Amino acid sequence: MAIRLGDIAPDFSAETTDGPIRFHDWKDGSWAVFFSHPADFTPVCTTELGRTAELQSEFDKRGVKAIAISVDPLESHEKWAGDIGDVGGTDLNFPIIADPDKAVSETYDMIHPGEGDTSTVRSVFIIDPSNKVRLTLTYPKSVGRNFDEILRVIDALQLTDLVPVSTPVDWEPGSRVIVSPMMSTEDAQARFGEVEEVKPYLRWTPQPSA
Ligand code: BEZ
Repeated sequence: MAIRLGDIAPDFSAETTDGPIRFHDWKDGSWAVFFSHPADFTPVCTTELGRTAELQSEFDKRGVKAIAISVDPLESHEKWAGDIGDVGGTDLNFPIIADPDKAVSETYDMIHPGEGDTSTVRSVFIIDPSNKVRLTLTYPKSVGRNFDEILRVIDALQLTDLVPVSTPVDWEPGSRVIVSPMMSTEDAQARFGEVEEVKPYLRWTPQPSA
């Protein structure tokens, strides 16, 4: 069954390049980005995993752990790790799950038979500290993901969890946000100071600190 926003991310045990894990124990109350890639030793995947390794300090700043998965076996992941470092310029610094029996990939609905073969498509799950799924993305095998977008969504989720605002189209961290419709303009002015009312339902305020 499809995993929907707000569902608890299913727990599982697996072998990874960092040793065996139980997912929820490994996550340990952090945010997580859990993403699948179709196969080891493939060009798009190599660039994506290299970029994730390069962004480790950005994930750390936000309290996010990254973890990847493919249906290839552990020995293959271990051999491929060197290439990821060579190509991306940063050694692999997060685990890759080996899923040769496809148990985890099937639980997370990462295998889409219409997409060519029995390997995983490019799925992304952003999971919060209470293990709730907060974002899902599915990309085809031929299109690499944008990891800056993944960081942007994490910034938006972390902001809107703490402050009664929403982020508008094409929002970037630091730019104006939308006051929650649940908040009166008077309360918004008291809390945020500057509030610009464009429509009764669309009120801007500079991005408050979380
Ligand atoms: C790649 O990562 O380059 C790739 C993997 C599977 C299908 C197409 C591209």
